[in-house]
Amino acid sequence: MRVLDRLDQLYAIGGGPGANRLGGTREEDEAHELVAGWMREAGLEIEVDSAGNLFGRLRGRRPELPEVWTGSHLDSVPHGGRFDGALGVVGGLEAVERLGQRERTLVVIAFRDEEGCSGPGCRGSRALCSGGLEPLPAAFVELHVEQGPQLAEADAPLGVVTAIAATARAEVVFEGREGHAGTTPMPQRDDALIAAAELVLRLRDAAAAVEGAVATVGRLSVEPGASNVIPARVVLSVDVRAPDDERVEQVAAGVPAELRRTRAVAMSPVPRAALLEQLAARGLSPVELASGAGHDAGVLAAAGVPAAMLFVRSLNGGISHSPDEHSADEDVELAVEVLIGALGRLASTGDE
Ligand code: GLV
Ligand code: MN
Ligand code: MN
Repeated sequence: MRVLDRLDQLYAIGGGPGANRLGGTREEDEAHELVAGWMREAGLEIEVDSAGNLFGRLRGRRPELPEVWTGSHLDSVPHGGRFDGALGVVGGLEAVERLGQRERTLVVIAFRDEEGCSGPGCRGSRALCSGGLEPLPAAFVELHVEQGPQLAEADAPLGVVTAIAATARAEVVFEGREGHAGTTPMPQRDDALIAAAELVLRLRDAAAAVEGAVATVGRLSVEPGASNVIPARVVLSVDVRAPDDERVEQVAAGVPAELRRTRAVAMSPVPRAALLEQLAARGLSPVELASGAGHDAGVLAAAGVPAAMLFVRSLNGGISHSPDEHSADEDVELAVEVLIGALGRLASTGDE
């Protein structure tokens, strides 16, 4: 299948292990150039906005009507998976190519720097929405791997997202005093890493005590970073998520830094129904689930775009942000068919 071949081509950029196309790097640019080439081959009109987001547009028979958008991101985390982000772009392109001209204009978007490994995340979609989107598209449908075990546990190849979790991220700095590791008595130390370690464990306990919440410290730098020097400065990242804003606040309370918050956001009834209708038409159970991961669809939804997401079953226990991320070829194929059906429906006004 062309989608799988294209995923392989994107995966090869930057070399292994895993996908290494961090936002803002040459590898992300290379992925955008590759996809822009495929969009041109498909006869789409290319546009790149000031944030570097890539748009491939297939003009509708009634281009004055609000457009129908699909897509996702092409950047990855370090050692990322084959599907995260890339599937939504190449699957979206496949769907638009196969649909051909419809009443409404169809647009495939590759957003920049969704992962935000060292920043707030969703840089491209936030930039697009920052001044308010005018005119709003009729719908945005993002195809993505689930990145968790729920669909596999439900024995369902596909699911429709109800809402995207709330998040709070922060960078916390601990200052201590450097000193000799061999001669400074324990009571006289001011070790920045001990204070940092206490926060790491406090967050773990706080998240474990709140239903549906998770907390992660994924980045930590220690200065001066020598085995025989007491740590004088530690900078660490905090990432807290939960199904609603209140639970995020509960876990993140007391984090000694400014929090960058993203509120939980519900997906929109019309594109959601279009996806569910396609599942029903294929005799698939209408599994609906919330997303713990952040997505560009959440940013667009918060900006007033009727947004929905189709999840594909993740295998290997649902692992993601890892080279072990995997989905079955036949599930991907089915997802593209469902996406085609839903986008086709949304791109029609019913009076063709
Ligand atoms: C994006 O993958 C996220 O961190 O949720
Ligand atoms: Mn993603
Ligand atoms: Mn990701």
